[in-house]
Amino acid sequence: MALSVIILAAGKGTRMKSDLPKVLHPLANKPIVEHIIDTVKAIDAQSINLVYGHGADLLKQALSHHELNWCLQAEQLGTGHAVMQAQEHINDEDDVMILVGDAPLISAETLKKLATVKQECDLALLTVDLDDPNGMGRIVRDANEGYNIKAIVEHKDATQAQREIKEINTGMMVMGGADLKRWLGNLSSDNAQNEYYLTDLIAMAAAEGKSIQAAQPDWAREVEGINNRAQLASLERAYQLRQAQTLMHEGVHIADPARIDVRGSLKVGKDVSIDVNAVFEGDVILGNKVTIGPNCVLKNCVIGDECKIEAFSHIEQAKLASQCNIGPYARLRPGSDLSEGAKIGNFVEVKKATIGKGSKVNHLSYIGDAEVGEGVNIGAGTITCNYDGVNKFKTQIHDGVFVGSNSSLVAPVTIEKGATIGAGSTITKSVDAEHLAIARGKQRNIAGWQKPQKKTPEKTPERNKNK
Ligand code: UD1
Ligand code: CA
Repeated sequence: MALSVIILAAGKGTRMKSDLPKVLHPLANKPIVEHIIDTVKAIDAQSINLVYGHGADLLKQALSHHELNWCLQAEQLGTGHAVMQAQEHINDEDDVMILVGDAPLISAETLKKLATVKQECDLALLTVDLDDPNGMGRIVRDANEGYNIKAIVEHKDATQAQREIKEINTGMMVMGGADLKRWLGNLSSDNAQNEYYLTDLIAMAAAEGKSIQAAQPDWAREVEGINNRAQLASLERAYQLRQAQTLMHEGVHIADPARIDVRGSLKVGKDVSIDVNAVFEGDVILGNKVTIGPNCVLKNCVIGDECKIEAFSHIEQAKLASQCNIGPYARLRPGSDLSEGAKIGNFVEVKKATIGKGSKVNHLSYIGDAEVGEGVNIGAGTITCNYDGVNKFKTQIHDGVFVGSNSSLVAPVTIEKGATIGAGSTITKSVDAEHLAIARGKQRNIAGWQKPQKKTPEKTPERNKNK
């Protein structure tokens, strides 16, 4: 049966105290609501209807790459009223899954389970038992009639006895399209909050003699909604810890599972080792036996087998073949492409450059818009001068070149195979193969030089004396 999904995301999220709509706040660098959209896509829903209200422009911009039916709820008159705004997109014969837009950790497995329960009944509810159910809608069951679900009572409308109930409504449910529309038509806002409660549908279903069944999530935090920044941070940590556990099950050595952040996807080979405070963003692939030192940031990059990334290195949109050595304190910017065994040392920045097999840039250099061949040694403090203020130019350094320390290579320039650049040179013309190029001021040694004499220090003025 086709499944349509309605995500309720019109609430303002006042308690976030933010200009950004609540559901756009990032968890693991992805908007809260986008976690839900991606999960829904994984269960093959035929349409996703997003009920929105606040921050329409920001929402549409942030979610423009998703195919959604946009359902405006101009005034937030309750969850039932929110679902009404999506009605026109719902077919009578479809199953309709209603989700809240602020519970980002809901899993595809749990949603599948909920949809499966609906196959056996008329209305499937996702519920959970909480030690502290304060504020939540309570699941009211009939002790005399096989413990069947009879209604959901909102906390504010509940009797003292009902408030003792620990089983609560997560806000997520599945029912038939025709039933949903019929019940929505009968909703009223005659309750403690003067809202159209979606939860009133449950009593309507029970009154019609429909069967109502509950499903539970595998993990209670999946259904936790976010209302403030403390809850956002708490769910972020829970999410990250889960990812760390998954990685450890895959065989990764993680120094401290509480100190790793994966904000995207991380694919790993065998025997990978990750030290504390590593941050992975976007799509990162680590080959076999890769080691990541403390405090590294890796974003959208591919790291080959047996590479060693040392402390405080930043790598973005770079590709490393096997056995490269990076850092500590190295920065590989977009377009860095390193061949096998390349070495990029401390305080070296590489951008849009290929570094050949076994080549070394060990200290304090900038290599940008460059092609560096195999077996090249770039001395400390070498700069490729790639930019004239308007245009970028390329530096080519062929196999086996030796660049002496503190050299500037003013692009466009080519240093041919096996050439040597004397230390401290400013190279503006190309150098032929196997030649030595030196371009620096000639040294003069002057005999009998008189060193400047220090003046006798002035007396400290009286007024500063006892300071
Ligand atoms: C609702 C449920 C409650 C349940 C709780 C779980 C109702 C009446 N109550 O409570 O039983 O325990 O969720 O978190 O359904 N929203 C709109 N438009 C509105 C109102 C809400 O889009 O007019 C959206 C919110 O943005 C949010 C979701 O619906 O994503 C839930 O709304 P919220 O106000 O947080 O839920 P409660 O009313 O507290
Ligand atoms: Ca409310």
